[in-house]
Amino acid sequence: SMDTFKYEDLEIKLTTNPKEKPGSDHQYEFGKLTTDHMLEIDWDVQTGWGKPLISPYHNFSMDPSNSTLHYALECFEGLKALPSYDKKKIHLFRPIENCKRMNNSFKALAFPEYDNEELLKCIKKLVDVDRDWMPWKEKHSLYIRPTGISWENTLGVKAASKVKLFTILSPVGPYYPKGFKPVSVNCYTDFVRAWHKGSGDKKLGSNYGPTIRPAKTVAVSGYDQILWLVGDTVSEVGVMNFFVFWINENGEKELITCPLDGTILPGVTRSSILALTQSWEEFKVTERHFKIQEVIKAVEEGRIIEAFGCGTAAVVSPVQKIGYAGQDYDIPINEELQSGELANRLFTQLDEIYTGKSQFKDWAVE
Ligand code: COI
Repeated sequence: SMDTFKYEDLEIKLTTNPKEKPGSDHQYEFGKLTTDHMLEIDWDVQTGWGKPLISPYHNFSMDPSNSTLHYALECFEGLKALPSYDKKKIHLFRPIENCKRMNNSFKALAFPEYDNEELLKCIKKLVDVDRDWMPWKEKHSLYIRPTGISWENTLGVKAASKVKLFTILSPVGPYYPKGFKPVSVNCYTDFVRAWHKGSGDKKLGSNYGPTIRPAKTVAVSGYDQILWLVGDTVSEVGVMNFFVFWINENGEKELITCPLDGTILPGVTRSSILALTQSWEEFKVTERHFKIQEVIKAVEEGRIIEAFGCGTAAVVSPVQKIGYAGQDYDIPINEELQSGELANRLFTQLDEIYTGKSQFKDWAVE
């Protein structure tokens, strides 16, 4: 059987020195605050997984030769714990999916395997220990950041003989505090985020760091995000998956996104949007490769209904403009909603599922 850590071995050391919590009207900036405790689980090639520990939030003391710092032996996850609609319970949204995805990232980094259910139980306990940090307000949440790093001190380029899995929590507000703010995106072609047989479908820090300079470059020209292409294929937007809702060449109403071909991060929000819209049976829902030229042709022929990004942090992010090869193309936006109607409907429905107001496939987990 697989070596794994076990929830039943979890040790908890509570803080005697809690941090000051933000007030009830605090304007949360994404990722700026952290809670009082953290989860850590260490692995050593000689002895396997150690016992999970929840202890007071603390700095790491690292040898400067630690191989995470040199060769980016790092991966992470992002999921949310949210208040239920009656503000009595805490819900996680499809959390096992994030545990599984991090196992895939671990594999990609030659880190050890673990049991997804055991990690989930440890994460649930961490959320419970720090439940007083939950902002009990609409559209607020505790953002959960499971992370894996090498804990070996070596300049050698090799598989880590020691690994640390840790998890921290960050209280966050709505991504768009004043309602949607549709984004302008640019197809920046001097840099490719992901490529076939690469690691773009894993949540590795090394996929994100190199995108920051290109993003700064398009920001100078007034664009909010990059619409990433792989060749001419439309792949993702910023750090989100991307959907186009259009009338296709056959005259059918269709929601389309790039398939999971190894260049696409398998987003939990992405898969949820696919499942939800398929369940409606109102229009065609398609995962296939589509080119930027097809999108531009559809804009020119007035066939685009809307376009949006999706991810855990923002949920959905409406797109109002696409820049390609020096030209700007307008994407329809409902002025009142500051979003397309489909993106707005998905945002509302997903929020109702997160909070337990409506139920869909056991996605909300207490
Ligand atoms: C998301 O939740 O959309 C993300 O992946 C954002 C994260 C990198 C901060």
